[in-house]
Amino acid sequence: MNKIILGFSLILCLAVSCKNKTKESHQEHIAAGDPHSFAKPNEAVITHLSLDIETDFEKKIIAGRADISFERKKDAKEIILDTKQLTIDSVQITEKNRSRHKVNFKLGEKDSVLGTALHIPIDDETGQIHVYYKTSPGAEALQWLTPEQTQDKKYPCLLTQSQAINARTWIPVQDGPGIRFTYDAKVKVPSTLIALMSAENPQRKNETGIYHFKMKQPIPAYLLALSVGNFGFSPISERCGVYAAPEMLEKCKYELTETEKMIQLAENLYGKYAWDRYDILILPPSFPFGGMENPRLTFATPTIIAGDRSLVTLIAHELAHSWSGNLVTNSTWNDFWLNEGFTVYFEYRIMEALQGRDYSEMLVTLSLQDLHLALKDLGETSPDTRLKLDLKGRNPDEGVTDIAYNKGYFFLRLMEETLGREKWDTFLKTYFTENAFKTMNTEAFLKKVTPLFSPEQLSKIKIEEWVYKPGLPQNCPKPQSVLFAMADTFRQQHFEKNTWDANGTKRWNTHIWVHFLRGLPSPTPLEKMASLDKVFHFSQSQNAEIQAIWFEKSLQSGYEPAYPAMRVFLTEVGRRKFLMPLYKEMIKTEKGKAMAQDIYKTARANYHPISQMSVDEVLRYHPLPN
Ligand code: BES
Ligand code: ZN
Repeated sequence: MNKIILGFSLILCLAVSCKNKTKESHQEHIAAGDPHSFAKPNEAVITHLSLDIETDFEKKIIAGRADISFERKKDAKEIILDTKQLTIDSVQITEKNRSRHKVNFKLGEKDSVLGTALHIPIDDETGQIHVYYKTSPGAEALQWLTPEQTQDKKYPCLLTQSQAINARTWIPVQDGPGIRFTYDAKVKVPSTLIALMSAENPQRKNETGIYHFKMKQPIPAYLLALSVGNFGFSPISERCGVYAAPEMLEKCKYELTETEKMIQLAENLYGKYAWDRYDILILPPSFPFGGMENPRLTFATPTIIAGDRSLVTLIAHELAHSWSGNLVTNSTWNDFWLNEGFTVYFEYRIMEALQGRDYSEMLVTLSLQDLHLALKDLGETSPDTRLKLDLKGRNPDEGVTDIAYNKGYFFLRLMEETLGREKWDTFLKTYFTENAFKTMNTEAFLKKVTPLFSPEQLSKIKIEEWVYKPGLPQNCPKPQSVLFAMADTFRQQHFEKNTWDANGTKRWNTHIWVHFLRGLPSPTPLEKMASLDKVFHFSQSQNAEIQAIWFEKSLQSGYEPAYPAMRVFLTEVGRRKFLMPLYKEMIKTEKGKAMAQDIYKTARANYHPISQMSVDEVLRYHPLPN
């Protein structure tokens, strides 16, 4: 069965690439049949987006105009854009003879996940399209923070998160990862704030509050990003720097100072960095993710600013996306592992080059633990544990699990180990160069890697099983972490007697602590939790990774002295990865449920709509419509 699907997909993908072969443009590898977009790019496809928008912090809306240039194929009678929660005020068309007039547009039926298709009539004479629109206060991509919700408490802040299909909630656009376009933007914001985008950026505020942006490399819509706030800038190297709240800048610069070195190590591995500058924006703690690979400007959570550079692996990850994801992009969200699995692989290669193999093997071991938890959570036979996903009719966010990230990683590592690193790296370098600014699906990727292996090697790797079957194949590579083995011994030696010697842990980094804490039994007897806390002060930790696992263990053990600190953590931090396990743990008991509801009552307002939606579901919370 899978062979048939594979074969069929290969033919399909060959047919698509042949059809467009004569024209070398960035639209060459358009994905046919994206289940999460209404667009029909094979009829009319966006080539450039020009935005003229203004942010209104009072009303919590963005309003303005999106000018759309496009390529019309065949005799297409319309271009279809994706929209969700947008008000379309009017649509105009500029004819090729430059006359401009209003046209009748049509909105399709509303779908709760995909939104609404916007149909705009076009013909031979249509030059450009102008959509006048505004967003709604509940737009899923947008978070509007009041001054009290930011670190400095003085200025408001706006941040967007477009991945996976939220770009359509702030811009009418063809919102599928298989469609690339260039963009420029004029953005008007309150004159006390600065605007930043996934584009060429200003480095300081100006009094007019008007900012101009340009992104000359073609990108898919999920990489459109905007943030508006009181941010300062500090350079790290010629081509790299950090934006953050002014009082945090120095600390951020210290933490991120290895970034330039990471870029160089990444370039040594897989080719030149393609986006000119690489800057990082450290956002307020409500940012729903750890990081987001917005091109030229990674968005990152402040929870990585630990003071000891121990969490900069996340930067290696987002930087790696500049190749895997942003340069070679998954053609639909069903191929999400090609974005994330590759990026985790590349992330660990960068960290190995920066910190050595012992260090990267710690990261890999944590990944394997996460993967086993995900398999348990989803069920070993769940179709969602296959690398190639089938997310049709569902929200692509459901595909964001450790399967794509970590099963994807181990599959690539297995190929590296089978082929030998030298040959594998040569292949990858060519892969990124040849497919730059193109789209890739699982089948096309497999077609490229399969010939690298001998029949004997292929029968050992079991590609089919890894990609199309649920669960984790037996031949999954096994990481070896000497540092974690040491932490295991330490835990075993002291657990029974419950006497903990802090001297033995002086040189431990965050990863070792996380591993140590993960290894505690659930529940851990209260007197042991108490003496651990007394010696190591976990409840007072300001390191988000340590806090997250300590609070989870505390809930499982009923260790109440940690709860006040957990409440503060859950109220200040909006990173979904930290929120979900804690809320999920709390709802397991009646008492915990009440505590979860009570915390969420105050905390919810500080979360991004993306995190709100996830926690709402866990707590069965029904927000009032806004
Ligand atoms: N691109 C992802 C975040 C994402 C994925 C947002 C899917 C929405 C839908 C980003 O690169 C990511 O993976 N972030 C991780 C970082 C980690 C794996 C180092 C995160 O936020 O935790
Ligand atoms: Zn990622």
